[in-house]
Amino acid sequence: MSQQTKPAAFQHIMVCINSRPASGQPSCARRGSEALAEHIEAQIQALDLDLTLQRTICFGHCQEGPTVRLAPGGPFLQFADVPTVDALLAQLVTDKRIANLLPGALKSREKK
Ligand code: FES
Repeated sequence: MSQQTKPAAFQHIMVCINSRPASGQPSCARRGSEALAEHIEAQIQALDLDLTLQRTICFGHCQEGPTVRLAPGGPFLQFADVPTVDALLAQLVTDKRIANLLPGALKSREKK
């Protein structure tokens, strides 16, 4: 009989709020990540999630922002928007160890 190990629970949700105004390159901030972070923060409180929001600077996925990541060790959520993060947070209400996180939302969304 094999013994399965449950994945660790996520403790943080990280949102890139980096802006690269001088370079003219795309960035998460230009695509509304600060407002998205504020929305996530409000939803964490509304849903009473045991999760902290961390605003961070650049995951290196600037072409695909806004970029969000669950930590520790979670997948990147790219082209993140309010409906996607709401779906993510709804899943986290029931299980903070999401094994297959919104597979359709990970890297497969069309560029805006
Ligand atoms: S600006 Fe957000 S990943 Fe680089």
